[in-house]
Amino acid sequence: MTERVVLLVNGPNLNLLGTRQPEVYGATTLAEIEAAVAALAAEFGLAVRAVQSNHEGVLIDAIHAARGECAGIIINPGAYSHTSIAIRDALSSVDLPVVEVHLSNIHAREEFRHHSFVSAVAEAVIAGAGPAGYEYAVRHLAAKFA
Ligand code: DQA
Repeated sequence: MTERVVLLVNGPNLNLLGTRQPEVYGATTLAEIEAAVAALAAEFGLAVRAVQSNHEGVLIDAIHAARGECAGIIINPGAYSHTSIAIRDALSSVDLPVVEVHLSNIHAREEFRHHSFVSAVAEAVIAGAGPAGYEYAVRHLAAKFA
């Protein structure tokens, strides 16, 4: 059987992880997160396609490209969580299991972060677990595919 691929999507400003507000987002870089996700996914026989962009349309294109090519999506939409109906519609359109991840606990922060347009189309939402949240997301998908 062909190896299942998981799409890992990180939205705007997450390229700056490690130096961006470390008191909120921690010291781990995005490259380290992507490497940890790939290593854990490999233990379950899953490959990872990692995409980060600061541009909404690029994120949407990556989600569309997952259709027929990926088995599931792990996404931290960053601030687009709170604004983007277009990203939510893209996720709905590809009909794949989605896990939404936030490093910080968005519910314990400013009011405008409490609502995510993506959450209603996600199977699972993980917020506040830091980088480990991405690993929990891998485990969720791996358990589904087992
Ligand atoms: C975030 C939370 C968002 O509110 C914020 O805009 C981000 C990161 C998180 O991972 O905690 O960019 O998604």
